[in-house]
Amino acid sequence: EKRGFRHFMLKEIHEQPGVIRDSLEDRIGDRGSPVRLGLPTDLFAGLERIYIIACGTSWHASLVGKYLIESLSGLPTEVNYASEFRYNLPPLSDRILVIGVTQSGETADTIEALKVAHQQGVRILGITNRPESSLGQKYEHIIDTRAGLEIGVAATKTFTSQLIAFYLLALQLAHLRDTQTPERIHEILTGLQQLPTHIENILDTQERYITELAREFDATRDFIFVGRGLNYPIALEGALKLKEISYIHAEGYPAGEMKHGPIALLDAAVPVVAIAVPGKVYEKVLSNAQEAKARDARLIGVAPLDDPAAVETFDQILPVPVVDELLSPILTVVPLQLLAYHIAARRGLDVDQPRNLAKSVTVE
Ligand code: M6R
Repeated sequence: EKRGFRHFMLKEIHEQPGVIRDSLEDRIGDRGSPVRLGLPTDLFAGLERIYIIACGTSWHASLVGKYLIESLSGLPTEVNYASEFRYNLPPLSDRILVIGVTQSGETADTIEALKVAHQQGVRILGITNRPESSLGQKYEHIIDTRAGLEIGVAATKTFTSQLIAFYLLALQLAHLRDTQTPERIHEILTGLQQLPTHIENILDTQERYITELAREFDATRDFIFVGRGLNYPIALEGALKLKEISYIHAEGYPAGEMKHGPIALLDAAVPVVAIAVPGKVYEKVLSNAQEAKARDARLIGVAPLDDPAAVETFDQILPVPVVDELLSPILTVVPLQLLAYHIAARRGLDVDQPRNLAKSVTVE
């Protein structure tokens, strides 16, 4: 069932264009009702705040989700680790929506945290690819990300499909709260529909290059990933993918934070992967990357190939097409998934079942 791929993880990385198409299918409507998630509007009426709770990769998707919800709809949104939220509840009321994000729908930390929040009378929304799971069965309002079952322990297609759910949700909130013009909503929805083709291009053009690049890290012990804004969570995700399947120590940081401490770690033995895409913080990320270069770090950019400033800054570029900055996380994560995969596969590791990890963590 790996359909010719060496591992499920690689197959699932390649399934992402199809999964995104599926998760958008029949969910884009017209000007009067641009997003169709099948959720009642009273779920969102009079909302004051959103808390998103999740673990691991789902927590990273949630950080992007917070950025999308706040920037598109203006609704204050916080992201919490489920294991922290569970025992440190903020003041809750019926004007609060708690969103639980879990690909498996079985993660004990998330399920338990939702349960205690539910007892406080909040509204609950679940985001999962497994509506048949405990999460899906317990709560009435669910967004099915339609990623299907994921076998590789390292989450890939479930992550990008959770992001799609957040785009749709944020746009629905923007529509209901009238915080974006219909034109802007339409523009983002159109951009979302173009993402699968862009991912196909990344997969077609970069797989071989990244396989080769991975050979250069046989002896590498540490990696740093940096990004800013809505690509900061992607830096965290790139680092998590690498550490969980290759057992290489990796950290993700907001690029601007490096100079406040972590830059002391850098030398020629520590590669830095920077996500630098045109938008609000592009120049800032490039200049943060140059600070790393001045410490002899090897610099890999997830960046546009045809921009002289990027070509000048990075030793290697994993190119991503230029899209609306808001949509960029869905593209920038793909080269990082491939990089982690190929480094781990080259080390001969059990990519689909890394040591000490399980696909769903059903203990608190
Ligand atoms: O099933 P969930 O989305 O609730 O799982 C949460 C984490 O355990 C999960 O994302 C974990 O971090 C993955 N192995 C990441 O690749």
